[in-house]
Amino acid sequence: MKGIILHGGHGTRLRPLTHTGPKQLLPIANKPMSQYALEDLKNVGINDIAIVVGDIYPEKVKEYYGNGKEFGVNITYIYQEKPQGISHAIRLCKEFVGDDKFIVYLGDNVLRKNLTDYTKKFSSSGLDAMILLCEVDNPSKFGVAYIDKEDSLKIKNIIEKPKNPTSNLAVIGVYFLTPKIFDIIDNLKPSSRGELEITDALQLLMDKGNKIAYDIVTGWWKDTGTPDDIIHANRLVLDSIGTEEQFLVEKDASIKDNIIIGNNTEISHDSSIIGPAIIGKNCKIRNAVRLGPYVSIGDNCILENCNIENSILMKDCKVYAQVDLSSSIIAHGSQIDGGHDVITKSHLLLGERTHLKL
Ligand code: TTP
Repeated sequence: MKGIILHGGHGTRLRPLTHTGPKQLLPIANKPMSQYALEDLKNVGINDIAIVVGDIYPEKVKEYYGNGKEFGVNITYIYQEKPQGISHAIRLCKEFVGDDKFIVYLGDNVLRKNLTDYTKKFSSSGLDAMILLCEVDNPSKFGVAYIDKEDSLKIKNIIEKPKNPTSNLAVIGVYFLTPKIFDIIDNLKPSSRGELEITDALQLLMDKGNKIAYDIVTGWWKDTGTPDDIIHANRLVLDSIGTEEQFLVEKDASIKDNIIIGNNTEISHDSSIIGPAIIGKNCKIRNAVRLGPYVSIGDNCILENCNIENSILMKDCKVYAQVDLSSSIIAHGSQIDGGHDVITKSHLLLGERTHLKL
């Protein structure tokens, strides 16, 4: 089997974070979100992976993943000039796929459960496609499947973002496919938003009498389209981390619960960290800082005087402010300075290398 990771799209709902790079490289628990997809594919024995890159800094994707060797896989890059839809991106991979079965993984989806059982089921079957469904509270934001609960082969239909959904089963961004999908995509018409939709391709595949099965995923699944989704995904991933002690902590600093701290990070005696939390390498945390719970701090950050919870700070950030920061995402190389007053900030989004004076 082969794997495809979709790394295109414009990520408009995540601006300004996506002004300087594709959303799939934004870190969740200090790891680019598309790396979770790559590791899931590798863990089911898929070594040949195509990454479909778009027009938002594709070179940053190549720079991070290279030829894949460092990640134990072979990577082929395929360019999609404009985001013309998920089906359009898949169609670009026809030559790469050849005669193999394949899995398409949207690079902004994160899944708790690994793909082992689903992959075994699909690879040993004569199925033409298999989709994974997950119960959601807000189905009108997703592609939704209407199924026959008695029969895992009976998907009645699939509708993209239905206005009045009567099913709460969202189609998640991991699709098990065969080369049959390519002819189907060739017969698709763009949707009202001008995209070749994956839901339309799956519906047409069914309409033409092909065999599609579904499975319902257990555990969580997160589609990280918005800042709140990313912060939620960060919480979900941090909930499953263990504790690694490779750090320098001054005597008396208070460190509680699941926490990973990278090499050479220093935490002063008057600072405290409440897990789950992850802190990168070479950070300096001093002057009565309080971190956590649910905080991810990238490498080389310097934090002083601040309280941060339920937030993501990427690499090389500096906070020199008496700020109570929550539910925020601060991109690489940003700096927050403050005066003498304590300031509370929630849902702050800072794009790369922003300098904010409070
Ligand atoms: P979306 O979240 O639907 O689109 P987007 O990433 O452009 O975001 P926004 O709506 O905020 O502008 O995309 C789902 C996934 O599929 C995501 O990982 C990007 C990828 N994708 C492509 O690779 N090519 C495409 O043409 C499209 C539409 C999406």
